[in-house]
Amino acid sequence: TTSADVKWLGTPIGELKRMPECGRPLPPLKDVPVITLSGKRPVPYPAIFKDTWDDVHVKMPCSSSNLFPVEDEVTSRWELIKETLNKEFTNQSDLKNAILKYNASNAKRWDFTALHLYCTKVLEPDAAEHLFGSLLPDMVQLALRASELCTKPIPLLKRGTTHSITMSQEQVACLLANAFFCTFPRRNSRRTEYWNYPDINFFRLFEGSSSQKTEKLKTLMCYFEGFTEKKPNGLVTFTRKRLDKPLNWKSSKTLLTNLHITCEGTIEDDGYGMLQVDFANKFVGGGVTSSGLVQEEIRFLINPELIVSRLFTEALDHNDCLIITGTQQYSEYSGYARTYQWTGSHQDVTPRDDWQRRCTEIVAIDALHFKNFLEQFHPEKINRELNKAYCGFARPDEEKENLAAVATGNWGCGVFGGDTRLKALLQMLAAAEAGRDVAYFTFGDSQLMTDVHNMQPDNIHNLLVSVTGVVYDLLGQYYSSVCKSCLSRRPDVSLYSFIYQQVSSSLAPDDSDRGSARQ
Ligand code: AR6
Repeated sequence: TTSADVKWLGTPIGELKRMPECGRPLPPLKDVPVITLSGKRPVPYPAIFKDTWDDVHVKMPCSSSNLFPVEDEVTSRWELIKETLNKEFTNQSDLKNAILKYNASNAKRWDFTALHLYCTKVLEPDAAEHLFGSLLPDMVQLALRASELCTKPIPLLKRGTTHSITMSQEQVACLLANAFFCTFPRRNSRRTEYWNYPDINFFRLFEGSSSQKTEKLKTLMCYFEGFTEKKPNGLVTFTRKRLDKPLNWKSSKTLLTNLHITCEGTIEDDGYGMLQVDFANKFVGGGVTSSGLVQEEIRFLINPELIVSRLFTEALDHNDCLIITGTQQYSEYSGYARTYQWTGSHQDVTPRDDWQRRCTEIVAIDALHFKNFLEQFHPEKINRELNKAYCGFARPDEEKENLAAVATGNWGCGVFGGDTRLKALLQMLAAAEAGRDVAYFTFGDSQLMTDVHNMQPDNIHNLLVSVTGVVYDLLGQYYSSVCKSCLSRRPDVSLYSFIYQQVSSSLAPDDSDRGSARQ
């Protein structure tokens, strides 16, 4: 046990590497939809909108192929959108009617209760006047500049591919304004070619009467307000990355890296400059535009530029991840899930890299959703989670000394029902293989902090468990001797007590062992 005033254990956080200090100079930026000049606003490239309407690019609202049926004919849907949004709105019902005009087939299904509550009950009359008189008109202008700002076709990050998209924060904002006004074509139902993509149009954000919805709306409006007030000049990169060959964990001889573990703080606040883990859904962003409000959704709300990844990222597979570099935090919050509240705007002072991106690197990795607790100890599931985390953490093209620590926590252990003690070990193994230290935030759980810390090789008095393959092997033994034959819902012996038993019976700590395991 640890005394209540111990808030962290292991390596001091100051000894873990962060960006930009640990990074290397970046190569010149190429093949991006903007021209950048240091300190100036990026200029869209090419100068004229290139209209594509195919299976490998985002179908844009401003495409001439975006059509709308009127009686027996079809007309340009973008013309209708422009005409409709360019009118003055004085209340939420004007806005609702506008959105439904070019989404006519959804008029009976979409519900705007949350938007109504936000405009009438949440906002003071002054603030509502500002919304309709100033902010919404600015957002409309931003959305309608799509063909001027997003001239280069946006590739879809399809499953099985490795690809990067870098765009300006202004381009992202324009796309998000379009998402807010629900203008993206073929994205209102799953019965289209986008069936395997997350939702992007915001219509579900406006539905229902929960206070969570209005808190989400406050958070997103703070972004649009912040953006229109002071347009940022930076870029953001979205990279879909795939692990081509799963690792052979059994034969791996890598030594575990340093662990800082704390029951205080959060990934986003205290893990600045580190590789920050998003506890993702395979549809990145999860329920951010609908009803979810846990780690991933909160992160996407306070750093809303993350949301645009939903426009082009096909559902993640078992062996890939999405890395997002350069998003900015616009909001602060308190609480979590049901108690989540927007608490005000945030001034992000994170330094920018050579590509004008904020040094905030977030990796979306989706854990498995376990409905049966024992299932996760099956070697196949363990391999899947290890490879998923490794895919997220490893950067084979970088030198280890240039890699920041991983800032993570109870990945897969909330909504997805995983075991924190197992997941902590798996993430330690993956980080070790990737050559990164770990900052682990237990989110208030001081027992977990102590338990994971006590599993560290120095504390368990057996340095053999500092070798990744040895730990992996112990996990396999735990499955075959405890879980496989277990008849109840939970194992009779916990994972950590099993490991203690194994290492203290078969591998008594002695100094010669120590010496050899270290090498
Ligand atoms: N910093 C550190 N730890 C945190 C933070 C934070 N900011 N927020 C939460 N935790 P969960 P999952 C801890 O349930 O199980 C979403 O809908 C806290 O202990 O978000 O992987 C996704 O879209 C919490 O219980 O992750 C997926 O659909 C734990 O992290 C699904 O949830 C797990 O957070 C993923 O569920």
